[in-house]
Amino acid sequence: MTQPLRTVGVVGAGSIGATVCVDFVVHGFRVVVVDVSETALAETRELLREVNRFLPAVRPGLTRLGKQEAQDRLVTSTELAALAECEFVVENVSEKWEVKRDLYRELDRILPEGVGIGVNTSSIPIGRLAAETGRAGVIVGIHFMNPSYLKDAVEVMRGDDTSDKCLDHVQELLSLLGKQAVVVGDFPGFVSNRISHLFFNEAIRVVQDQGVEPAVVDDIFKKCFGHTMGPLETADLIGLETVLLTLENLRESYGDDRYHGCALLREMVASGRLGRKSGQGFYHYHGTSSVAITAGV
Ligand SMILES: NC(=O)c1ccc[n+]([C@@H]2O[C@H](COP(=O)([O-])OP(=O)(O)OC[C@H]3O[C@@H](n4cnc5c(N)ncnc54)[C@H](O)[C@@H]3O)[C@@H](O)[C@H]2O)c1
Repeated sequence: MTQPLRTVGVVGAGSIGATVCVDFVVHGFRVVVVDVSETALAETRELLREVNRFLPAVRPGLTRLGKQEAQDRLVTSTELAALAECEFVVENVSEKWEVKRDLYRELDRILPEGVGIGVNTSSIPIGRLAAETGRAGVIVGIHFMNPSYLKDAVEVMRGDDTSDKCLDHVQELLSLLGKQAVVVGDFPGFVSNRISHLFFNEAIRVVQDQGVEPAVVDDIFKKCFGHTMGPLETADLIGLETVLLTLENLRESYGDDRYHGCALLREMVASGRLGRKSGQGFYHYHGTSSVAITAGV
């Protein structure tokens, strides 16, 4: 008899959450995804269709699922109650503290005892969210990289109360996604974003103050340093409002003005130029391609 598929939950199907859903599905899981936006849920289905088509060609060991089989493995809902059957839940809602805080209180009421939550955050300490629940032992940070289905490693943040059992569970799930977990402690921004958001902000300042073209800034990182993507392409991919929220959280946490989001970043967020998700950021986007903007960023 075939084993039933393991079911994980995902809350928040935006820039990163949609890619996490798809990653779990193509690696053999059933996924229940909850978002307040029907549009986000429909876009996640579309992303699954696309990724299921091309990913097996670039990721050895993955088999393309039948179209219907792939869609059947993804259950979408706008109700958190749909998560009650999941063995583990990955949370990827907004980086705003109040939004996450309210959600954790709600999840703690809905999820069966012992079900763990992976906090996919850019800057919020895991312990701070764990304290909003009665299950601190099974709250752990999982900072997925974007897009999740193309990345081989994730940063895992262990809170003071995170149990060994919970950490083992997460490492097992991640290994089934073909990912290595790099475990770090629990401090705002962790290792990755405490550093990366300083250079994102500084890269934006170079465009703002020196008038350097975004593509030139990114070329320095790609061609000279050998990075796969430049800082401005990466910021566009993350979403500029998430970058700004992360900088604000880090500035508040460390009381350090180095994290003050620069004027150009604020202006772009205020005018809705959010990067890839809005079709315009430091580059123009048409579908999955990008065209460098040479003026007027
Ligand atoms: N964007 C990235 O590359 C990236 C990478 C790693 C971690 N993160 C973190 O992941 C989280 C999400 O970031 P994002 O960029 O995907 O944001 P996003 O704004 O693109 O997506 C957030 C999604 O959550 C949904 N949502 C908001 N409140 C909700 C609620 N109460 N219940 C259910 N759904 C809700 C929204 O409708 C939206 O679809 C943030 O904490 C961010 O810091 C983002």
